[in-house]
Amino acid sequence: MCGIVGGVTNNDITALLLEGLNCLEYRGYDSSGLIVLSKNNSFDRVRSVGKVKNLEDSLKAREQKISGNIGIAHTRWATHGEPTINNAHPHISMNSVSLVHNGIIENYIELKNNQITQGYEFTSETDTEVIAHAIDFAMKSCNTLISSVQLAIKSFSGSYGLGIISSKYPDQIIATRKGSPLVIGIGNNGNYIASDQMALFSITKEFIFLEEGDVAEIKIDKITIYDLNGNLVDRPIKTSKLKKGQIGLGNYSHYMQKEIFEQPQAIRDTLESRITNNSVLISSFGHKAKENFIKIKQVQIIACGTSYHAGLIAKYWLEDIAKISCNVEVASEYRYRRPIILNGTLFITLSQSGETADTIEALKAAKIINSDICSLCITNSAESSLTRISDLTFLTHAGPEIGVASTKAFTTQLVSLALLVCSIGKLKKTISKKQEKGIVDGLKRLPGLVNEALLQEAQIKKLANRLKDTNSALFLGRGTMHAIAMEGALKLKEVSYIHAEAYPAGELKHGPIALIDKNMPVIAIAPNDELLEKLKSNLQEVKSRGSQMIVFEDENSKIQEMQAMEVIPVTSNLGPITAPIIFTIPLQLLSYHVALFKGTDVDKPRNLAKSVTVE
Ligand code: F6R
Repeated sequence: MCGIVGGVTNNDITALLLEGLNCLEYRGYDSSGLIVLSKNNSFDRVRSVGKVKNLEDSLKAREQKISGNIGIAHTRWATHGEPTINNAHPHISMNSVSLVHNGIIENYIELKNNQITQGYEFTSETDTEVIAHAIDFAMKSCNTLISSVQLAIKSFSGSYGLGIISSKYPDQIIATRKGSPLVIGIGNNGNYIASDQMALFSITKEFIFLEEGDVAEIKIDKITIYDLNGNLVDRPIKTSKLKKGQIGLGNYSHYMQKEIFEQPQAIRDTLESRITNNSVLISSFGHKAKENFIKIKQVQIIACGTSYHAGLIAKYWLEDIAKISCNVEVASEYRYRRPIILNGTLFITLSQSGETADTIEALKAAKIINSDICSLCITNSAESSLTRISDLTFLTHAGPEIGVASTKAFTTQLVSLALLVCSIGKLKKTISKKQEKGIVDGLKRLPGLVNEALLQEAQIKKLANRLKDTNSALFLGRGTMHAIAMEGALKLKEVSYIHAEAYPAGELKHGPIALIDKNMPVIAIAPNDELLEKLKSNLQEVKSRGSQMIVFEDENSKIQEMQAMEVIPVTSNLGPITAPIIFTIPLQLLSYHVALFKGTDVDKPRNLAKSVTVE
C-alpha cells in the first residue's frame, strides 16, 4: 500500500531516496517524506502532502540542503489519519528513533493509551507513531537497536514493513516485515531497503527477500538477519531478471496505455515454455502439480477486483470444459465467513501483486479450516507473500504492471487459467487431445488477435469523446461476457470516475431496465456464441427504451445497427477461451480514452493504490 525506500551508503543518500519514491508512487501518493541522519547525527526531515513532486519542490525550496549517508523515505496511502503533513512518514520519537511503515497496527489505540501514561506525546493521528515510541521505550532496556526492535514488535498485532533508523546508532538501518513486503538491495557502495525491488533497480539487481517475521540489521558492509524466533539466519541473495527498460514509459504517455499495448508480448511470454507439441505442460504449475491435480474434486477461486473477474471467467471454463465444479468469491468476504471446504479442493488465489492482504488472509483462513487443500497461486510477482504460503505457484509473465488499473495482468491471468483448464481436463480425462489442441491453437493466435483488436483505437477514441460527459453507464454481456462487462465497468469507474455497472443482459428486465433512458449509455458485448440470439432480444428491449448504445461484436454476430447505436466489429470466429480475452481490449481502450478526455490522473487514480496490502 505505502512505499518504503532507504539505505546506508558512502555517498549522500537523498537523490536515491527521491528516485526510489518516484518508482514507488504507484503504491500510494497522498503524502510523502524522507529523513536523513545529518553529519552531527541529528535527524533532518522533509514531508509534504500530495505527490512526490511536491516533496521534491519542498526540498528545492529549502535554504539548507538535506544531506546524509543514511536515510529512509515513504510515500503514503492513508489508512489512519488524513493525508496531512503531520500524518506523513517518517515519524520520530524523542529525537532518537525514526521510521517508515507500510501496514496497519491494529492494537494502536491500546498501545497509544499506554504510551501516553509513559510520557510520550503524539503529533499524528496515525497508527504508525506508536511503533516509534515503542522502539524508543524498548531502547531503555536493550543495548542494541535491533534488540530494541525485536522487543517492541512483540507488542504489535497487525501488519508491518518497517525501515528504522536511530540517532544513537548512526551506522545502521533496521528492517523488518510481517504481512507487508520488504526487500534488501545489495549495492557496491552500500545496502538498501525497499518495499518493491523496482525502487532499487538503478543501483542493484541483487536482492534478499525477507521472510515473514525477519528482522535485519543493515550496515554499509554487513547484513545480519534474525528470523521471527530470534535465530540468526542466512537468506539467499537472488539476482533479479527484470530489465530496467521494462519499467520506463518509452514512447507511451501513460503506463496504462503502455501496458494495454504490451499485452501481445505479455501473453507470448506467459505461454513461453508452457506448451510443447500442442500440449500444455502440467509441470508449469509446479513439479508437484500432477500428483495434486489428479486428486482434486472441486476448485475454489479467491481474488479481489480485476483478478476476481478473471476467476469468474475461469469458473465457466472449468465447469464447461474441464467438467470440474468451481466456486469463485471475493477474498474480503471469504476470509470472514466460515465456509465449508471439502477435501480434494484445489484452492486457487489470483493476484497480480501477490501481496493483496485480503487474498493472503483468505488462503490462511482456508488452510486452518481444511489443511487437506492444495493451494495454487497465480501471480505476476515471483517473490510475493502469496507464493511463499502456496503449495504451487504459476507466474504470469506480464512484466511489471505500474498503472494502478490492471490490464495486462488480467489478460495473462486468463491465459494462465486456460492452461490450467487444459491441465486439469487432461488429468481428469474430461478433454480430448483434439480439444486440447484446439485450445492451444487459440492461445497461440492470441498475440496476433490482440494486436488486431488494438487497431480499433482510433474508432474507440471517438466513442470515448461521446461518453466523457455521461454520469453513468451500463455494461451488458452474457456468459463469460458478463464478467468482461464487469471488468469494463470497473475500468471506467477507476480511471474516469464515471459511475458504471455491469449486468448479465438477461437480468435487466428484473429491475435495472428502469434506469434506461437516453441519458444512460449502454455498452454491450456480442460474441458469436450460443447465447447470441438471446442477447439480441435483450438489446432490443434496451433499445426500445431509448438508450444510446455501443455494441462490440464478432463480425459474424451481425447485430443490426439502429438509430443512436454504434456497432463495432472487434474480431471474428473466436472460441470460448479467446473471446473474453479479445473483447477485454476495446473496453480497456475505452476507459483509457474517456479518462484522457476527462483529464484524470490515469496511472494514479484518486483514492487507489496498486497493491492493497491492508484490509
Ligand atoms: C483494478 C485493480 C484492482 C486489483 C485488486 C487485486 O484495475 O487493479 O481491482 O485487481 O486490487 O489486486 P491483485 O491482483 O494484486 O491481488
